[in-house]
Amino acid sequence: MTFVALIILFIVISLLIFMIASFALFSVGLFFELPYVATDAEKVKTIIKLSNIKKGERIVDLGSGDGRLLYAAAQKGAYAIGYELNPLLVIITMIHANLKNLSNNVLVKKQSLWEADLKTADVVFVYGRKHTMKRFEDFIYKNCKKGTRVTVNSDKTITFPNKKPISKENGIYLYKV
Ligand SMILES: C[S@@+](CC[C@H](N)C(=O)[O-])C[C@H]1O[C@@H](n2cnc3c(N)ncnc32)[C@H](O)[C@@H]1O
Repeated sequence: MTFVALIILFIVISLLIFMIASFALFSVGLFFELPYVATDAEKVKTIIKLSNIKKGERIVDLGSGDGRLLYAAAQKGAYAIGYELNPLLVIITMIHANLKNLSNNVLVKKQSLWEADLKTADVVFVYGRKHTMKRFEDFIYKNCKKGTRVTVNSDKTITFPNKKPISKENGIYLYKV
């Protein structure tokens, strides 16, 4: 192998290591703030039931994972928008939306959920952890219009710290802004 070929090989390997390290650091950051945990099928049913979605309403899922809540909302006739930073989950959501013939009613944005446009949302889905609940509460009550329904899913029955839910079922809390 010539000297030039060795240099090229070194550069390619360095670039690969840099890309893998960057992706790993990005994933670890996401993991600590809000890791991917999918809502189980029973809770999906409860969320759809409590949020009482009507045809034509706009739904936002803050951290949409594999898109399961988006499809369930779209099947009720809603226009469902997800915010998701994990590129793999964004691709999975787009593929499933196509396979389920829901691509006209499902949009997933590879963008931070903290930049979500909530002004026109009729329903917002939240799946938070203890340390994110206050931030979710402030974000939602600052940006949603009055009357927006919000479902909160939390593994450890930890919900918004300052607001009272109007309903609760199967570990899902319903709020009205
Ligand atoms: C607990 S999971 C909920 C997934 C889905 N909503 C469900 O109920 O099945 C949270 C999701 O939020 C994503 N996430 C974490 N931080 C995010 C951020 N700042 N912006 C967008 N998505 C984020 C994670 O990748 C993960 O898929």
